[in-house]
Amino acid sequence: MAPNYVMIVALITFICFSLCFGDDAMLPTHNNLITKSNCNESCGNVNIPFPFCMSRDCTLRDQFLVTCDYSLNPPQPFLENSSIEITSISLAGQLNVLQFISTDCYGAGISTNKIKSFIALPSLLTVNDTSNRFIAVGCDTYAIVQGYYTKFGAKIEYPSYITGCMSMCNSIDDAVNGDKNSCSGVGCCQTSIPKGAWNVTITLSSYYNYNYTDMKNDLSCSYAFVVDQANFNFSKTYLSNLQNAEKLPLVLDWAVGEDKCEIAMRNSTTYACKSNNSYCHDDSNGYRCSCMQGYDGNPYLIDGCQDINECVDQKPDYRCVKNAICNNTDGSYTCTCPPDFSGDGYTECNRENPHRKIQNIYLIIGITAGVALMVIIVFGWSYTAFQRRKMSTMKKKFFQENGGLVLQQRLTREEESSHTNTIKIFTADELEKATNGFDKDRVVGQGGFGTVYKGYLKDNCVAAIKKSKVIDRNQIEQFINEVLVHSQINHRNVVKLLGCCLETEVPLLVYEFISNGTLSEHLHDKLKASALSLDIRLKVAAETAGVLSYLHSAAYPPIIHRDIKSVNILLDKSYTAKVSDFGASKLVPANQKEISTLVQGTLGYLDPEYLQTNQLTEKSDVYSFGVVLVELLTGREALCFQRPEEERSLTQYFISSVEKGHLFNILDDNIICDEGNAGQLKTVAVLAQRCLNVKGDDRPTMKEIAAELEAGSRLKHSWAQTDQHSEESESLLHDTQPLGFGYEYSEHSVHIDSITNHVTLPIPGGR
Ligand SMILES: *[C@@H]1O[C@H](CO)[C@@H](O)[C@H](O)[C@H]1NC(C)=O
Ligand SMILES: *[C@@H]1O[C@H](CO)[C@@H](O)[C@H](O)[C@H]1NC(C)=O
Ligand SMILES: *[C@@H]1O[C@H](CO)[C@@H](O)[C@H](O)[C@H]1NC(C)=O
Ligand SMILES: *[C@@H]1O[C@H](CO)[C@@H](O)[C@H](O)[C@H]1NC(C)=O
Ligand SMILES: *[C@@H]1O[C@H](CO)[C@@H](O)[C@H](O)[C@H]1NC(C)=O
Ligand SMILES: *[C@@H]1O[C@H](CO)[C@@H](O)[C@H](O)[C@H]1NC(C)=O
Ligand SMILES: *[C@@H]1O[C@H](CO)[C@@H](O)[C@H](O)[C@H]1NC(C)=O
Ligand SMILES: *[C@@H]1O[C@H](CO)[C@@H](O)[C@H](O)[C@H]1NC(C)=O
Ligand SMILES: *[C@@H]1O[C@H](CO)[C@@H](O)[C@H](O)[C@H]1NC(C)=O
Repeated sequence: MAPNYVMIVALITFICFSLCFGDDAMLPTHNNLITKSNCNESCGNVNIPFPFCMSRDCTLRDQFLVTCDYSLNPPQPFLENSSIEITSISLAGQLNVLQFISTDCYGAGISTNKIKSFIALPSLLTVNDTSNRFIAVGCDTYAIVQGYYTKFGAKIEYPSYITGCMSMCNSIDDAVNGDKNSCSGVGCCQTSIPKGAWNVTITLSSYYNYNYTDMKNDLSCSYAFVVDQANFNFSKTYLSNLQNAEKLPLVLDWAVGEDKCEIAMRNSTTYACKSNNSYCHDDSNGYRCSCMQGYDGNPYLIDGCQDINECVDQKPDYRCVKNAICNNTDGSYTCTCPPDFSGDGYTECNRENPHRKIQNIYLIIGITAGVALMVIIVFGWSYTAFQRRKMSTMKKKFFQENGGLVLQQRLTREEESSHTNTIKIFTADELEKATNGFDKDRVVGQGGFGTVYKGYLKDNCVAAIKKSKVIDRNQIEQFINEVLVHSQINHRNVVKLLGCCLETEVPLLVYEFISNGTLSEHLHDKLKASALSLDIRLKVAAETAGVLSYLHSAAYPPIIHRDIKSVNILLDKSYTAKVSDFGASKLVPANQKEISTLVQGTLGYLDPEYLQTNQLTEKSDVYSFGVVLVELLTGREALCFQRPEEERSLTQYFISSVEKGHLFNILDDNIICDEGNAGQLKTVAVLAQRCLNVKGDDRPTMKEIAAELEAGSRLKHSWAQTDQHSEESESLLHDTQPLGFGYEYSEHSVHIDSITNHVTLPIPGGR
């Protein structure tokens, strides 16, 4: 006895050790409780899970009784005491079985063995309709399948069904003519069976008893069966040898009770979902049970549903990232990052060391900042008082530095002498209020020269407020001159300068607000361009020419604008041109025709002669104006690097086209060309050509140009007024115009800006 006892203890110890210290992967992740403790788990190779059972006192109901035939090798389970052989049972509700084939064979025209077979299933079992099909094989065959089907669990013998199919062929070889191995009507036919069938009776018959010439001498058979189509492929050889196959696979569905869940749950003694963490679901036969998500096992047994250890299983939907620590919890699991890592464990887990250090630094900074803040608050009050005083001194200082006093004096003098409205000097506070503290949302234009804001002045008047970039202190005098000059240009086609502010470090200029955007926008935007009729274009040209003529001839001292381009011509609602941006303009000293300066302007508009000689004359404006005129005619941009090489420079392209006589090919599509205006277009084109002469002396003066354009425009104008169309299109435009702005796009730094094509070349001794 003693040695036996020692052996058992040793064995138990061994098992315990191998369970506790063995390889983790060897351990079951959840118990595989299949059936009750007093039942055999399997018969041969087939597992028999509860509620199926091989003994009557263990099974849930008689329907689930399985008989194991130990006389076979390996032993085979059968359903109850029927001939239905079970190949597998799934807790998902399926039962795979083998079923006999119905056979009907003929020898010399006489039926030799006619089998009429039927499958009669106990209640709770039905034939699965999606997996199975009814198939008949033969060359003189009609097969009928009939029986009963359930209506939600209730096994009444009504309603019943009857269906079937028929297959004829002249010889076995005919079956090959069809798709070789598909059951498609020749030698084989198939049909589906109704849902919930439980009594399936198969009847086989033939029309001619296989008594026709070709077949007479063969042993000719018909076969019929319900089969799991996933496990059966038709082959023409079956026509002669299916007899030997005997049994074919069939899928059955089973339910654990015939009621709906709702009803089944009411009686806890009969309710089959015994396990915690299991749930009930309805089926067409009745109800079944399943384990909840995160659990696995047999829901029909107490404690059958066991927690899945997702951390070990790591199924495809496992969500912990690399480095994360997985912690299995009851029914679920969590992913967390190890202490030195940051992240949530599901999306990322990154080593955190450097971050943590930085965080610590931030913490220290935070505490220090907090202490510092306290100190600041203590000193704050006295400091702000000091600051306020300082600010006001600063403002005064800037005002003086920016030449405020000089300007104020000169303005007063001007006012006294000419009695005209000159510009106003705004305070910094006023303009800050007007632009809502130079709010980003108020920006309407931005360029190398500065930023333009939309502002509302005290009297509710809308203004454009230009904040320049830092300017050269040496040029203060000049700045004042320009402000003064601009303030004196009182021309209806020049943007009005309302005032300026000198209290800030950089001077602020206040202009009248022009609502309709720049000419450039109108020319190069497809939609807007379509509204620009030839008349409007010529009007804009004439008005611009008028301004330049005025600047060159009427103003004293004469002014050269120096940056004429479509971006600097603004349009108001009625398409009246307003020339803007006098940032680059030059006052021409008396008795001097030309001045030597830093070459400045915009690529594409820049006078080539000026570029070469550095001598700025009125004719440079004429050249730039010529480019604008061509732009008006063609709708093309002055310089466009996206075009083929010969079309990049608009002036060159225009001149070469006109010389080739292709003027009308390059006109803007929106200019309607007809006999009425062909002459006029040619005249304007010739005028533009003259403006673009390489030699300044050969270009016409602005005065001539203005006169010529005005004459043309006036003629056309009277014609246009009788035309309703122009007025119509104008009113149409008012609604669709967004606010636009383009006061300042000059580039004052020394480089070529590829976006604005602005160029500024430094010249020794210039300016
Ligand atoms: C269990 O299986 C053994 C053979 O493996 C058999 O002898 C025994 O009768 C079976 N018990 C039941 C309840 O079927
Ligand atoms: C199975 O056995 C039971 C008795 O144990 C009997 O009443 C029943 O008719 C049998 N069923 C078949 C299909 O033989
Ligand atoms: C078979 O067909 C022949 C004629 O083709 C007929 O004489 C014979 O009676 C038929 N035999 C049977 C069993 O129908
Ligand atoms: C038939 O079997 C398939 C799996 O083979 C299953 O998805 C389907 O639910 C079953 N049909 C019924 C009515 O249970
Ligand atoms: C199934 O149907 C056949 C014929 O229709 C009948 O003979 C047989 O008794 C039925 N089986 C059951 C269990 O009702
Ligand atoms: C039926 O054919 C398919 C492919 O043609 C094959 O994958 C499958 O194993 C075959 N089934 C049987 C039972 O032969
Ligand atoms: C539950 O079912 C059992 C067995 O059918 C029956 O004896 C019992 O009376 C039922 N209990 C209730 C509350 O219906
Ligand atoms: C199953 O759940 C019930 C209540 O829902 C509880 O009382 C019982 O202890 C649970 N059993 C197990 C094994 O967790
Ligand atoms: C794992 O989760 C359980 C239950 O939520 C908790 O008690 C335990 O502390 C966790 N372990 C780790 C290492 O996070």
